Amino acid sequence: MNSRSIVSIADYSRERIQKLLERAARFEQQPNQRLLEGKVVATLFFEPSTRTRLSFETAANRLGARVIGFTDPKVTSSSKGETLKDTIKMVSNYADLIVMRHKLEGAALYASEVTDVPIINAGDGSNLHPSQTMLDLYSIWKTQGRLDDLNIYMVGDLKYGRTVHSLLMSMRKYNPTFHFIAPKELEMPEEYKLYCQKEDIRYVEQTDFTEDTIADADILYMTRVQRERFTDLMEYERVKDAYILRADMLGKCRENMRILHPLPRVNEITQDVDDSPHAYYFQQAQNGLYAREALICEALNIDF
Ligand code: CP
Repeated sequence: MNSRSIVSIADYSRERIQKLLERAARFEQQPNQRLLEGKVVATLFFEPSTRTRLSFETAANRLGARVIGFTDPKVTSSSKGETLKDTIKMVSNYADLIVMRHKLEGAALYASEVTDVPIINAGDGSNLHPSQTMLDLYSIWKTQGRLDDLNIYMVGDLKYGRTVHSLLMSMRKYNPTFHFIAPKELEMPEEYKLYCQKEDIRYVEQTDFTEDTIADADILYMTRVQRERFTDLMEYERVKDAYILRADMLGKCRENMRILHPLPRVNEITQDVDDSPHAYYFQQAQNGLYAREALICEALNIDF
């Protein structure tokens, strides 16, 4: 892997995370900084996206870079059989940084091994989504004033949800207690539970999702059941509405509890929750701009 690529932030030290959080906070104060004048950022989205692509592109624009890329691989030569390796090598001729989303787990790591241009992983299958994790950490830090010693409830699709996998790993140095709430079919994969055991991370698995069972959450991290990852759509239909958060379930929750969701939402948070002071998912998505400005600078070794 080339040294400036951001494929995962799971192994980042507390100091490195703190530096990125503080940089994101500075970008929130002053998002327009022409630090990337003359640079070109490529955004290669082999899978659909709204927030990740647009916030990366906005971040690059606000930093003064030019943006090239695609949102649909069907309009590229990959539809004629060009390999990912050749596509990455070609784009490396044009861009200073490549932001890539791909359906295959490990695609970002592979891309980072075939080029010297830094790659930022914008999501690889069900594996990892480090820029989402950075904005999640920034959102938690902003709302809770710390990352240490928090009760974090992860709810919904914990099997395919790359955002929960990424977040879980990057919280390991902050003494979290995780509560995993998922239907049997979508429970947290064994490899992540083993990771928790190896790293001494406390976790509880539960299936109840009530006003009482979420009362001591600091962060309630809701996720969408990801239809696109199912091979059996009947199974998707069976589990898709397993956990739905409604406003009337928030009566006993901690005053400072915040509801996060990587979005898009489908049915798992009813619209009446949007008016609750606990709802934070739209601000969370806005934080993505500042977190991604910070990550772009990290990948390009630019101080701010
Ligand atoms: N959270 C997230 O990755 O959203 P998009 O799929 O819209 O980019």
